Order: sequence, then structure tokens, then C-alpha cells
Amino acid sequence: MKAIVYSGTGASSVLSLVERDIPDPGPGDVRVRVVVSGVNPTDWKARSGTSIAFPDVVPNQDGAGVVDAVGDGVDDVRVGDRVWVYLAAHGRPTGTAQEFTILPADRVVQLPEGVGFDVGASIGVPAMTAHRALTVHEHGPSRLAPDALADRVVLVQGGAGAVGHAAIQLAVWAGATVIATVSSDAKAELARAAGAHHVLRYPDDALADRIREIASDGVHQIVEVSPAQNAALDVDVIANHGSIAYYANNNGDEFTAPINPSYAKNVRWQGLLLYTMGSAAHHAATEDISAALRDGVLPVGESAGLPLTWFPLEETAAAHDAVETGTTGKVLIRVSEEDA
Ligand SMILES: NC(=O)c1ccc[n+]([C@@H]2O[C@H](COP(=O)([O-])OP(=O)(O)OC[C@H]3O[C@@H](n4cnc5c(N)ncnc54)[C@H](OP(=O)(O)O)[C@@H]3O)[C@@H](O)[C@H]2O)c1
Repeated sequence: MKAIVYSGTGASSVLSLVERDIPDPGPGDVRVRVVVSGVNPTDWKARSGTSIAFPDVVPNQDGAGVVDAVGDGVDDVRVGDRVWVYLAAHGRPTGTAQEFTILPADRVVQLPEGVGFDVGASIGVPAMTAHRALTVHEHGPSRLAPDALADRVVLVQGGAGAVGHAAIQLAVWAGATVIATVSSDAKAELARAAGAHHVLRYPDDALADRIREIASDGVHQIVEVSPAQNAALDVDVIANHGSIAYYANNNGDEFTAPINPSYAKNVRWQGLLLYTMGSAAHHAATEDISAALRDGVLPVGESAGLPLTWFPLEETAAAHDAVETGTTGKVLIRVSEEDA
């Protein structure tokens, strides 16, 4: 089988295409024939990081495909199942940039009938992060379902990003009033297509006023990609007992926030990291996301607010570069044909 590997960290040029034997799944593991591999910022960041824990690593956490073998003790996943996977390369060297990958059964989730592999490969990192961001609040729901966020206002900073896109879709599905911020008219179109009820441009000195015009009592939950730039604005527009779920360090590694209004409003600054948030949060996310997929509310593609940019497996390095340089939407790799 074909696999993309790297044996030392660095620029995307460390990635190379190799031929390997197809591995057999061990007890509790599942082998997936990968159809589509999804690329996220975490994949190029890991590749360009300081070190790797294995002799070599196949990159990419996300993907979708078909189960083609299961190990002993696996009874909830069957050969032939269409699935999406998450954290494929976390704590293991077996990402999705290869024709067959091995994962623990609990990182393999059924893809509902009619949901495409392009959707499946776009879920893991973005939607699970968005789910966590929408469910870690003092007075908000710990699970998402229709009406779970009814009567709540959610502000998604960066509504045309991959995580932002998933946050809009999940929050709208759950009944929230969703405000998204974007940096251009083209991105505004995408955030609207994702379902945001209100889309505002940044930077804008009057942004806080515009948000309060929509949410006079403040926003209850903020999904924050850039606390370094937005912390003060977030505190300005947050409601009493509101929470700011921050998941990235875009445009700055440190943030300051005004203290008095933060405590006066009982603000919760809630960090989150997919790798460390815990298996209970992972399983809650996979269950709720599966329900959202069954309801057909997580489409991808330009008309759904998430343009897709495709690469063949051989061009995985270019796919990583596309994500690193900020390609809008989702970068996907065609690994094999759907009906191989
Ligand atoms: N903690 C976790 O577990 C976790 C999980 C997933 C992703 N992440 C991290 O989250 C970040 C985003 O990931 P992604 O896949 O969504 O990337 P992406 O698709 O590139 O989206 C990033 C978005 O952030 C927007 N943005 C940047 N500065 C902003 C600001 N000041 N206000 C509002 N929006 C702003 C960008 O818009 P403009 O370019 O137009 O400004 C862009 O739309 C990455 O750093 C990634 O590593 C963390």
C-alpha cells in the first residue's frame, strides 16, 4: 500500500511517499481503508514540531473510509462499515495519509447512510473541538441536540474557519442565535451559508456595539480562535455567567483581559484541547455529532460555507502547505476510490 511518512520533523519536504505491507489489526483495533484524509493545522504543526516519538509517522488525524478488518474483541464495528475516524495519529504513528490505517475501535465512528466521505474526513478535529467549545459552560448544556441551546446567544469568532464553521453548524442545529465574525465579504458569505444568523466584519472599533445591538443582554457563549486579539472585546460583550471557550493562539501567544468586568460578570475563561479533554468529552462529541450527521446538518462544500480543496495522496506535502498558508475552508486528500 501507499503511505506518506516522515522520520524527522521540519518543512513539508520531510514528507515522502513509500510502499508498505498492509498491517493487520491487533486486539481491539480496526483496519480502515482510507478514502479521504482530512488535513488540519495540528497536522502540519506536529510535522514541523520539535520531535517525534516513533521511528516514523504517517500524518493526519482525520479521515473517512471503509472498515476492511477488525481485531479480536471488536464487536461494534464490522467489515464493510462506512466510518469516520478521529485522533488517528495521536499517541500512535498511524495517521490517515495512507491507504490503510489501524485505529482503536473507539476512534472509529459510523458514518450515517447518505453522508459522504468528504464530510466524514472534515469532522474529527473541527467538529469535536467545536462540540467541546459549545458544551463547557457554567449554565449551558453539556450535550448538544435540537433546542439544547435555545434562548442562548453564541458568538463564533472566525466563522469562516474550519472549527468556526463546525461551531456555527452545531450551534444553529442546537437552537442558538449565532453571531459570527469574519474578516472579508467573501468569508461573510461562507459564515451565512453555514447558517449564522448574524455576520459581522472585524476589525471594527464599533464591533462591541454591533454585537450588543443583536444581544442586548450579552452573548452567553463565545467560541474563540484568537484570544490574543479578542479578549477585551469578549469580556465587553459577554453576558453575566458567560463563558469564553478558547482553543487556539492565532495571532498571539498571550492575552490580557480586563479583570474587574471579568469577575463582575462571573466570566469563565475555558481552555480546551482535543488531545487532553478526555475520553468522556470525546464520546459525548461523537454521539452528538452522529445525531447531527443523521439530521444532515453538517454539510461541507462552498454552498455550505466550507469550500473544499483537494489533493492526491502523492501531494500530501502541498496539502499541508495549503493549510499552513491559511487556505479558506477544508483541505482534503483523495487517498482511494470510494468503491475500490
Ligand atoms: N485546541 C484544540 O483542540 C484545537 C482544535 C482544532 C484547531 N485548533 C487550532 O485552532 C486554530 C484554527 O483551526 P482551524 O482549522 O479552524 O483553522 P482555519 O480554518 O485556518 O481558521 C482559522 C480562522 O481564524 C480566523 N481568525 C484569525 N484571527 C481572528 C480574529 N482576531 N478574530 C476572528 N477570527 C480570526 C481566521 O480568519 P481570517 O484569516 O480571515 O482572520 C480563520 O477563518 C488553529 O490554530 C488550530 O491549530 C485547536
